[in-house]
Amino acid sequence: MDVGRRVAVVTGGASGIGRSLCLALARRDAAAVVVADVDADGAAKVAAEIEAGGHRALAVTADVGNAADAEALVARAEDAFGRVELLFSNAGIIVTGGLEIPDQAWARTWAINVQSHVWITRAVLPGMLARGEGYLVYTASAAGLLTELGSASYSVTKHAVVALAEWLSITYADQGIRVSCLCPQLVSTNLGTTSQRLLGACGPPAADGNGAGALSAADGIGAAQAGVDGVLTPDQVAACVIETMADERFLILPHPEVATYERRRADDRERWLRGMRRLLARLSAG
Ligand SMILES: NC(=O)c1ccc[n+]([C@@H]2O[C@H](COP(=O)([O-])OP(=O)(O)OC[C@H]3O[C@@H](n4cnc5c(N)ncnc54)[C@H](O)[C@@H]3O)[C@@H](O)[C@H]2O)c1
Repeated sequence: MDVGRRVAVVTGGASGIGRSLCLALARRDAAAVVVADVDADGAAKVAAEIEAGGHRALAVTADVGNAADAEALVARAEDAFGRVELLFSNAGIIVTGGLEIPDQAWARTWAINVQSHVWITRAVLPGMLARGEGYLVYTASAAGLLTELGSASYSVTKHAVVALAEWLSITYADQGIRVSCLCPQLVSTNLGTTSQRLLGACGPPAADGNGAGALSAADGIGAAQAGVDGVLTPDQVAACVIETMADERFLILPHPEVATYERRRADDRERWLRGMRRLLARLSAG
């Protein structure tokens, strides 16, 4: 599907991959880009940048980890532009640590990394189905196909995103709904610092010194793992998204090596687990 002349909503549009997607959509002549983010100033800046280039944009402040905000966001977009034809459900956070991270951090990660997609899709889907056409793009991660060393909550929630996207693709393809799922490895963004800031508002990331807390995307075992095949810029990722959408392929893999890793995992799960344990031991040893 060509993104030109279509109305797009991008969550997490103020920074990183979301910001690059917003700007790429405008360059590709999207009819309008709705830049949604909890970061009101950041969203306003991206919308202003798009308008300065002669395109239509709207900044909406929304916490998509909250059902009412997610619904209101879609209503604002439809009020302003009459329809939502492309959804980029992209906002997400990461917390390092395993089972020990506080329940509030687990809950917040579930709300933002998984439920946000459910709430926003529930709001945009009726219009898309009525028009017989729409494109849903979910930002998961390579962690959603494999695993994120050092972060149980990220691994689990990103697998859930892939599962949701697959379910939607299977269920709605015959009604004109296209679905893609973005699964990059390491991308140079503010993910670590943003997550730290957002989790600060929902409770202490870790009071017990067990190593839980927000991960800087630029360091940690998970980042070392994700960076094995190189670090991409968010602009490179956005270009890959638009290109893959043109072919209407489900998996968007800016790091193509991920396809091989996923195949190896499926071919011999025991061997893959042994390999991941060895990688964890190697990265933990520094
Ligand atoms: N950076 C990476 O290495 C990488 C790799 C794979 C997947 N991802 C995924 O890419 C997506 C985008 O992250 P990024 O790397 O561009 O990070 P980023 O922090 O630069 O951008 C994320 C944006 O999402 C916004 N956001 C977070 N929670 C929100 C909420 N509840 N409501 C509205 N907006 C919210 C933030 O304010 C921020 O502007 C995430 O889903 C992340 O998990 C990132």
